[in-house]
Amino acid sequence: MKPAEKPANPNFSSGPCSKRPGYDVSRLALESLGRSHRSALGKSILGRVCSETKELLGLPDSYRVGVVPASDTGAVEMALWSLLGARPVDVFAWESFGQGWLVDVTRQLKLDPVRTFTAAYGELPDLGQADPSHDIVFTWNGTTSGVKVPDGDWISPAREGLTICDGTSAVFAMELPWEKLDVVTYSWQKVLGGEGAHGMLILSPRAVERLESYTPAWPLPKIFRLTKGGKLNEGVFRGETINTPSMLCVADYLDALQWVRGIGGQAGAIERSRRNLAVIEGFVADHDWIRFLAAEPAQRSNTSVCLTVDLPDDKVKEMTVLLDREGVAHDIGAYRDAPAGLRIWCGATVESTDLEKLMPWLEWAYRQVSEG
Ligand SMILES: Cc1ncc(COP(=O)(O)O)c(C=O)c1O
Repeated sequence: MKPAEKPANPNFSSGPCSKRPGYDVSRLALESLGRSHRSALGKSILGRVCSETKELLGLPDSYRVGVVPASDTGAVEMALWSLLGARPVDVFAWESFGQGWLVDVTRQLKLDPVRTFTAAYGELPDLGQADPSHDIVFTWNGTTSGVKVPDGDWISPAREGLTICDGTSAVFAMELPWEKLDVVTYSWQKVLGGEGAHGMLILSPRAVERLESYTPAWPLPKIFRLTKGGKLNEGVFRGETINTPSMLCVADYLDALQWVRGIGGQAGAIERSRRNLAVIEGFVADHDWIRFLAAEPAQRSNTSVCLTVDLPDDKVKEMTVLLDREGVAHDIGAYRDAPAGLRIWCGATVESTDLEKLMPWLEWAYRQVSEG
């Protein structure tokens, strides 16, 4: 039997993720459109992006927050190209995006020595292998495998190297040990349901110290340059962006931050995300044909929830097509490089009531393709 009710919002994509409940594009504060981003107005709006992010995330006072080009990818690559090469590097990778950073470090930057610690989809490498005298590159939440780092206990508070963390599907959804993270990046299009285009770059004082004391041996394109005359370009961290940003995307991001404030800040956003995961956990516990790809419950992502289904790959695909066609769940197929399965976004912008309505549809689609 087809379930009677459909989710009110069928957008469960893992990026760009669903807009926040109640989102209305016509309500964005658009007074900056058509104005220079370097006008007093433009700069003050961009400055708010930095300061409000810092406040809502509860970052240490000494940390800097900047808006950079090219979404999370831009922010991560800016960090890798600007900071690495001063020390040996340890890279931890367990899914597609982490693998991509590993390629950058080894084949593009050709750094040496590099130690690589990898794991199959669904698992974490042994983070305990991290050497505190090395720079460490890792992803907090593996969006394509649904495996997250459970805590920062493995990072030494007395480390000499830098920790560079791609936090794109974790920031505003998981508690991050900021004091142990020297570089954190994320994009607006994930947990906050914002737009692509711009990335956020968060730097600790130790990362700034590296930028001011070390010059990479390779040339840096203008778009990556964070220093001027050997000093940090502080303007970037006050909203004086390297090049022209989309003020429309900026307005959209500030709208998302205001929404986060209204749901109880970061803690409220994390709580919503956990509640969303709990809906899927309840369903998985009651059905033996579906399982989490993450082997270890503590490492289970509460944003990009990846599930395997007891069906051949083409049948899983059929399930996603059916659900899409019924208008109950869009874009929930596993990432193209990941094992076949379902990936359902559980970040704060998704309503748990919609996930509750989606669950019986999973059962329905499974029965349709396995019995049909
Ligand atoms: C872990 C991770 N890193 C990087 C990216 C790339 O993000 P963007 O497309 O915003 O640059 C993604 C996108 O899904 C991601 O999940």
